[in-house]
Amino acid sequence: MPRLLTLSDIPGCMLLKDAAGWNQTEQDWRNLLAAAPEGCFGIDCEGRLAASASAACFGRDLAWIGMVLTDPAYRGRGFARLLMERCLESLEGRGVAWAKLDATDMGYPLYRKLGFEDECAVERWARPPGPVPDPPDPAQFRPWEVADWRVLDCQAFGADRSSLLPLLAFEDAAAVPGLGYAMGRPGTRAAYFGPCVATSGEAARDLLSRFLSLHSHETVFWDLLPHNQAALSLAHRFGFERRRELIRMARSVAARPAEFLHNDAYVFAIAGFEYG
Ligand SMILES: CC(C)(COP(=O)(O)OP(=O)(O)OC[C@H]1O[C@@H](n2cnc3c(N)ncnc32)[C@H](O)[C@@H]1OP(=O)(O)O)[C@@H](O)C(=O)NCCC(=O)NCCS
Repeated sequence: MPRLLTLSDIPGCMLLKDAAGWNQTEQDWRNLLAAAPEGCFGIDCEGRLAASASAACFGRDLAWIGMVLTDPAYRGRGFARLLMERCLESLEGRGVAWAKLDATDMGYPLYRKLGFEDECAVERWARPPGPVPDPPDPAQFRPWEVADWRVLDCQAFGADRSSLLPLLAFEDAAAVPGLGYAMGRPGTRAAYFGPCVATSGEAARDLLSRFLSLHSHETVFWDLLPHNQAALSLAHRFGFERRRELIRMARSVAARPAEFLHNDAYVFAIAGFEYG
């Protein structure tokens, strides 16, 4: 039966994500547990953690479901379905209006059965190590502060992420005053660029170029919404290659919720498949 995950489950969580070849670190799990202390669930089988799922709430407007993982040895026993049902039940209990997620090919059939509908494509792009042409002037960047970006981030994403973003900003966050911000964090397979929210392609370019200059010796992953043409052209220009496509899906949780408004033209990098 599903139970709440705690910090002591992190080694088991890392085994689950390693089996799927994902990029999250132990710190990512700590962040998720801090952002969603009542929304991270697991199922034990034969004395070990066999499956996981998380639902991080952004106020009552939206929850993001992620880390839906079942150990390969325990797949096909209904664990992912049980965990998804537990997540949705907890969101209903908390009066959340909408749930969204980024679906892999393996997860997609389950989410369709649970009433999620396609919203758009979301893609993983990767850049191999290498020099960055024309790095920007460091003087134009400022430290990231939640108070400066709360309104713009909310317009872009559609819900208030001010409880999550400070957790993600611990490593590498910068802003171009008035125009946009970007964050990055380590991964087990590659450095991760995102989230990045900006009102102009030039600001996003400078923030990306800054991040790549600091991580030119590493592979960098960047998850973007390909209908944001400005993001797509930056990915080509900076030598990224498309690796995977997922489907962003949405489902109402409350009865007849208000339309969920967001502006993907400002979203240059998502925060992660597990956060949106
Ligand atoms: C996707 C995943 C979590 C499913 O876990 P699972 O515990 O085996 O799933 P369940 O046994 O609960 O199956 C759930 C439902 O999806 C269906 N399903 C599962 N995998 C499927 C597949 N590859 N193709 C078609 N249907 C599938 C099952 O038939 C089941 O339907 P039912 O409840 O109507 O009988 C697991 O395959 C996994 O960890 N994959 C790698 C990581 C991943 O991609 N996660 C999804 C992230 S969005």
